[in-house]
Amino acid sequence: MAYNLLQGKKGIIFGALDEKSIAWKVALKAKEEGATFVLSNAPIAMRMGAINQLAETCEAEVIPADATSLEDLENLFSKSMEVLDGKLDFVLHSIGMSPNVRKKKSYGDLNYDWFLKTLDISGLSFHKVMQTAEKLDAMNEWGSILALTYIAAQRTFPDYSDMAQAKSVLESIARSYGYRFAKSKKVRVNTISQSPTMTTAGTGVGGFDAFFDYAHKMSPLGNAPAEDCANYVITMFSDLTRMVTMQNLMHDGGFSSSGITEDIIADLKKS
Ligand SMILES: NC(=O)c1ccc[n+]([C@@H]2O[C@H](COP(=O)([O-])OP(=O)(O)OC[C@H]3O[C@@H](n4cnc5c(N)ncnc54)[C@H](O)[C@@H]3O)[C@@H](O)[C@H]2O)c1
Repeated sequence: MAYNLLQGKKGIIFGALDEKSIAWKVALKAKEEGATFVLSNAPIAMRMGAINQLAETCEAEVIPADATSLEDLENLFSKSMEVLDGKLDFVLHSIGMSPNVRKKKSYGDLNYDWFLKTLDISGLSFHKVMQTAEKLDAMNEWGSILALTYIAAQRTFPDYSDMAQAKSVLESIARSYGYRFAKSKKVRVNTISQSPTMTTAGTGVGGFDAFFDYAHKMSPLGNAPAEDCANYVITMFSDLTRMVTMQNLMHDGGFSSSGITEDIIADLKKS
């Protein structure tokens, strides 16, 4: 059911790789709720071609940008304002990648060039996105900017490796830029900390299946599906959440507040 929550709003959605992507589901819902937007992803991701199907369904233009490149971002923001005929009301940063995780490097044997890449792609790029938006005066007042994060920023999950540091950087940037953007433009900036989700980025983390089941049993409501994450993103882009800023918002079925659950106790008793 649609509520017209984003009627007349314009934005950019980063990170829709395939139909499992959280950003993909956000794009479908944003369209349903009346938004117009540009889809963006790294040029290399374009080669898979799936984003073009999404663009057709959403009647959206696709503008490639490597989120670590200021040049690409400047081009993306200026072209988006042209295509959408005005400034933006929302931006979704749904971007994450670690070469160390991808190449299964152990945490005690990290490649530091790759570590820096992880930080750049998964953390610093959020700053670059907002700095570009601010310099080009691309945001409307009361706009909403969101990034997706994971609880490994606060607690250790061994196979999450250097992505944990990237997510800490990301969440910290949301607070610092959130302050700045609130003061200058009344734009709000938040991160949503999502449950483990079966996507390309998610399943790339070692031991993901076992971990997914564990998190499900540790969450009184179960793991939050991507679809619900998309619903949450839409409410955060809507005018119903205008005074929420500089927050890390848990969207995890209760995982982050649970010490232990009956399901986990039952499993432990069995073994
Ligand atoms: N899947 C999970 O378990 C989970 C849990 C919590 C948070 N998240 C976060 O959600 C976000 C979206 O991930 P997803 O799970 O939908 O997976 P996904 O693999 O579908 O999306 C990740 C996206 O990042 C893009 N990307 C990588 N490098 C880029 C670059 N240099 N420039 C621009 N884009 C680039 C990829 O092309 C891809 O579209 C990520 O920030 C991820 O860390 C995922």
